Amino acid sequence: MISSMSIGSDDRLIALLVLLLIPTVLGWGKEGHYVVCKITQEYLSEDALFAVKQLLPDSAHGDLAALCSWPDEIRFHYHWSSASHYADTPDFLCNYQYYRDCHDSYGRKHRCVTGAIHNYTMQLKLAYADASSKFNYNLTEALLFLSHFVGDVHQPLHVGFTGDLGGNSITVRWYRRKTNLHHVWDNMIIESALKMFYGSDLSTMIQAIQRNITDIWSNDVSIWEHCAHNYTTCLDWYASESVSLACKFAYRNATPGSTLKDEYFLSRLPIVEKRLAQGGVRLAAILNRIFTSKTGIAQA
Ligand SMILES: *[C@@H]1O[C@H](CO)[C@@H](O)[C@H](O)[C@H]1NC(C)=O
Ligand SMILES: *[C@@H]1O[C@H](CO)[C@@H](O)[C@H](O)[C@H]1NC(C)=O
Ligand SMILES: *[C@@H]1O[C@H](CO)[C@@H](O)[C@H](O)[C@H]1NC(C)=O
Ligand SMILES: *[C@@H]1O[C@H](CO)[C@@H](O)[C@H](O)[C@H]1NC(C)=O
Ligand SMILES: [Zn+2]
Repeated sequence: MISSMSIGSDDRLIALLVLLLIPTVLGWGKEGHYVVCKITQEYLSEDALFAVKQLLPDSAHGDLAALCSWPDEIRFHYHWSSASHYADTPDFLCNYQYYRDCHDSYGRKHRCVTGAIHNYTMQLKLAYADASSKFNYNLTEALLFLSHFVGDVHQPLHVGFTGDLGGNSITVRWYRRKTNLHHVWDNMIIESALKMFYGSDLSTMIQAIQRNITDIWSNDVSIWEHCAHNYTTCLDWYASESVSLACKFAYRNATPGSTLKDEYFLSRLPIVEKRLAQGGVRLAAILNRIFTSKTGIAQA
């Protein structure tokens, strides 16, 4: 720790500067979001499935998962949405508080992943509860943002530390490849798992996760889904779990300059797979709570 801080500080400064100039990857990679939304579709109620299909553009062919990475693709056009992919927390505290942590780098309140989930949940809920009302919000976008951000909040390093930009400024090697810790958790663990265990086939991986959901995690699912006080979402809980996992697993033994290999990969993969499962199950639970009857959607 001491040696990496003194030797690595220049590297980190350079990495930080580079990161300020180059847009970083924001969220689980394409695969991660696809997995979350595929799992979601398995758990949607009939009403929710109906509403989701109504909101999806024709290009999705009824498949929510096909568009769950859309918010990452449009982040350059919708510049305000960048901060909505994560919520950074004070360094080494390992906890999250909405009022303290949910803001963007200019200090604007509610500009973070949990604020965004709340925003889009409310847009959908209000429109669905009162089909006769006129809202100016694009509910297709609300659905896609909500689906994406519920995935993101389950990626532990999306609720990481402010000082290292959620692991973005921690340069590491993933086996022989130079990358950063955030990217390892967004992409590399999933990509390596696909190659090593799932014959490079995403649907095989999804099936394996689904088998765990119906088998060894079946008793946990109702706890994952549950929100106290009949709340539609329990954002603060999801974010708190993430920062806790970030401290216990993501940051641990991943100091700047370290090389992450089998030991790190094999011990962290089960965490990643469980977070994907929880993200999928919870997104379904949220959508099921939003779309509780066939009153229909008031699309502006
Ligand atoms: C809420 O959603 C609207 C429509 O996408 C957006 O303009 C606004 O910035 C969002 N606010 C937050 C806090 O996410
Ligand atoms: C809603 O947003 C989607 C995606 O950006 C866009 O294709 C569609 O035209 C928008 N719908 C309306 C009614 O503006
Ligand atoms: C399934 O659960 C077992 C036991 O916790 C775990 O070791 C394994 O990695 C999980 N597999 C998937 C695909 O989630
Ligand atoms: C939750 O909602 C159900 C059904 O509307 C109601 O019976 C129950 O009392 C509510 N629970 C709380 C804690 O508000
Ligand atoms: Zn994202």
